[in-house]
Amino acid sequence: MSTVTSKLRLAERMSRLGTESAFDVLVRARELEARGKEIIHLEIGEPDFPTAPHIVEAAARALRDGWTHYGPPAGLPQLRQAIAEDAGLRRAIRIDPAEVVVTPGGKPIMFFTILALVDRDDEVLYPNPGFPIYESMIRFVKGRPVPYALPEERDFDVDVDEILGKITDRTRLIILNSPQNPTGGVMGREQIAALARALAERDVFVLSDEIYNRLIFEGEHSSITQFPGMKERTIILDGFSKTFAMTGWRLGYGIMRPDLARQVALLMTNSNSCTAGFSQVAAVEALRGDQSGVDRMREEFRRRRGVIVEGLNKIPGFRCRTPHGAFYVFPNITGTGKSSKTIADGLLNEAGVACLSGTAFGDWGEGYLRFSYANSVENIQKALEKVAAWVKAHL
Ligand SMILES: Cc1ncc(COP(=O)(O)O)c(C=O)c1O
Repeated sequence: MSTVTSKLRLAERMSRLGTESAFDVLVRARELEARGKEIIHLEIGEPDFPTAPHIVEAAARALRDGWTHYGPPAGLPQLRQAIAEDAGLRRAIRIDPAEVVVTPGGKPIMFFTILALVDRDDEVLYPNPGFPIYESMIRFVKGRPVPYALPEERDFDVDVDEILGKITDRTRLIILNSPQNPTGGVMGREQIAALARALAERDVFVLSDEIYNRLIFEGEHSSITQFPGMKERTIILDGFSKTFAMTGWRLGYGIMRPDLARQVALLMTNSNSCTAGFSQVAAVEALRGDQSGVDRMREEFRRRRGVIVEGLNKIPGFRCRTPHGAFYVFPNITGTGKSSKTIADGLLNEAGVACLSGTAFGDWGEGYLRFSYANSVENIQKALEKVAAWVKAHL
């Protein structure tokens, strides 16, 4: 390894950048595996299924056909068209291709939206526990992060009154995420309607992270864009990672008013230039081709959800709600008398089960763990046995 002797002087803004600790836990788990320890991976948020063969074939064909060059920063016209049709149909709203920006994964839409809209000292409401990159980005641009809770007793749905009580004249952006990471909570339609009514008169944007919208087990997905006046003040974040098991392809998109879409495309020009062309050609196939794999995957997640919720509820000190969406459970572990971090570290190092401390998603995640059930029923059952044995031996 090379050694450096001089001190690294970083720009001040780097001290305000957070991280996503799922990747750190994955690295630690891999180190333990390299030393011969068996680890069951319930920490990482990606479907364990392969991408469907017809999508892989479309990408291979695109490469052979010469889709190996730069493309337009906002995305290929045929993909923007396909996204506008598909996303519009699923939400029963009208979307124009000029409102779509294709990005390498859904994550850049968080980055770009916050860069484009939030100035120093602007307040941004965001869920806590929630996807850690929201808070990281708010702090990065010197905005003021204002967390709101996701009460367990409401099945991790938002309390709209709490959100409304936190809106001030400085509020610039409200981040919603439904279905939610890490809790699996899904926002009820009445909650969204109440929020939309309250926002109707305000100059506030909404970043609606809907990346898990096709992983809902009860009822239908609701989007705030379906309510009067909200579409032009909302940026939908969506993508191919979770729905089509395409995390490594890096394919996502944002849907927003066309004037904002042009600015976000400018951020693409300044950062990535464009999303890979052959991936985008395959993405058209993902949207327009056979959807049965998506349905099968959801039904398999439903089966696993049943197994993990039942198993966790049998462990002394654990209490687990049945989540309505995504592929995570968020058990309350306060009954163990230990901190989330202590339990998560113990499970990884001693029981060989990788999961995340609730605090990986913000301070208000204390008292919880996040398990991803994107793993086989067999492995989930094995993990549950290991967790139960560890709890019995240590607590
Ligand atoms: C809530 C949420 N939004 C966005 C993303 C980003 O997805 P992508 O891999 O497409 O960047 C994730 C990924 O874990 C997520 O959990």
